[in-house]
Amino acid sequence: MPDAIAPNLPYSGNRTKWALWVVMGIITLSLFTVFEYSNYPNSHDRFWDERYILVPHIVFGLIALLAGPFQFSSRFRQRNLALHRLLGKVYVVSVLIAAPLGFILTLKRPPLLEFAVGVQASLWFLTTIVAFVTARNRQINHHRQWMVRSYAVTFFFVSDRVPFECPFF
Ligand code: HEM
Repeated sequence: MPDAIAPNLPYSGNRTKWALWVVMGIITLSLFTVFEYSNYPNSHDRFWDERYILVPHIVFGLIALLAGPFQFSSRFRQRNLALHRLLGKVYVVSVLIAAPLGFILTLKRPPLLEFAVGVQASLWFLTTIVAFVTARNRQINHHRQWMVRSYAVTFFFVSDRVPFECPFF
């Protein structure tokens, strides 16, 4: 049974939500500019060998990562629900492409890494599918909850690297 449709939820203007997105944005930008850029010379050969899988994995992973803040914005959704649906479908398709590619990239790695990424890719895939189906069924509260779970896995690409790169850990 569809939940009460959420588009009419009053816009909260929630400062905490903004602060969280700003912090997540700063972490993401610094990790890409510091970690990935400085690490590239060491991984260039591996990157080149796996480019046909790695490049689409990175591109679609980035699309999902960057779509999140728009999709969770109440103001964006209330002003253009059609764009929320469209960008939402782009997000869903991006995850469905990036997740299996991420797992394929670990097939020649140590079994423990392969297992860990296998679990992560399956969670990414499943939470996104459930979130999409609940949107189709107009179960908006469930849709929101499952999209939070899906995006938590999307952001794992960033949060997973923090302990390795953050000088405080
Ligand atoms: C990463 C986050 C999100 C993504 C990728 C996403 C994706 C989508 C997609 C693909 C649809 C269209 C489904 C269809 O074809 O009918 C949709 C509809 C919708 N979503 Fe989201 N969504 C996200 C977050 C949210 C959040 C946080 C809310 C807050 C309540 C929300 C509320 C809605 C509503 C109200 C609809 C329209 C349902 C209708 O068609 O009337 N979404 N979303």
